[in-house]
Amino acid sequence: VSDAEVIWHDAECGRYRADLSLWRELAATAGGRVLDVGAGTGRVALDLAARGHDVTALDRDPALLAALRARATGLAVPTVAADARSFALERRFALILVPMQTVQLLPHAEDRGAFLRCARAHLEPGGLLAAALADPFEGFDAEHTEPPRPDVAHHGGVSYASQAVAVRAEGDAMVIERIRRTVAADGSRTAAPDVVRLARLDAATLEREGLAAGLRLQTRRRVEATREHVGSAVVVLGA
Ligand SMILES: C[S@@+](CC[C@H](N)C(=O)[O-])C[C@H]1O[C@@H](n2cnc3c(N)ncnc32)[C@H](O)[C@@H]1O
Repeated sequence: VSDAEVIWHDAECGRYRADLSLWRELAATAGGRVLDVGAGTGRVALDLAARGHDVTALDRDPALLAALRARATGLAVPTVAADARSFALERRFALILVPMQTVQLLPHAEDRGAFLRCARAHLEPGGLLAAALADPFEGFDAEHTEPPRPDVAHHGGVSYASQAVAVRAEGDAMVIERIRRTVAADGSRTAAPDVVRLARLDAATLEREGLAAGLRLQTRRRVEATREHVGSAVVVLGA
């Protein structure tokens, strides 16, 4: 790990574990090839590959995929640098996963429509697409009197802490404001804002979009909230 982008990705996504049992269950049931869309540094893809699944990792960010490959010691995990809205692979999959609200990074219905059609074209007959959706306002509601805990990572003697400080609605998006702070061994500090925009998207809307893309409705699943993370609805659609 060296690239700051990879370290922040690890801090903000890498320690989440609450969803892994669901992806493991779906991969075991699907029993064929798995495509992890928005795989990042491989939190889910490497976990499934270590359990013997044939996983392909797709992300638009080549630096994150390079870190994934460096971590895939002894595991064959092909990586594809491509956009979720327009990928074209030779192979078809029994399961396409979109963990951690990545589908909400596709801002508009047209973007998600393009992704859903593309995913459908890459599913085997009977294959499944499963996408997690979260409502970050949950972490800032009346039940949560304390701010969410920062996501942290340590690398090369430097501590990295990413703290969500606000969530606000802006049209059809939710804007999450974070402050990314570092503290080096010599005590020097940095602080920089970071903003993530997620589409305000509920499960019923994504299901309708899936139907419009020619997919079939399957039973919705859920990843429960933990002390540190909001819960997710997981939309499941079949080819
Ligand atoms: C929240 S992270 C999730 C990473 C990983 N799946 C996990 O669960 O830990 C979202 C990932 O989606 C990728 N991503 C965002 N938009 C994308 C797009 N349009 N096409 C492909 N990847 C995308 C980002 O580069 C990032 O790695």
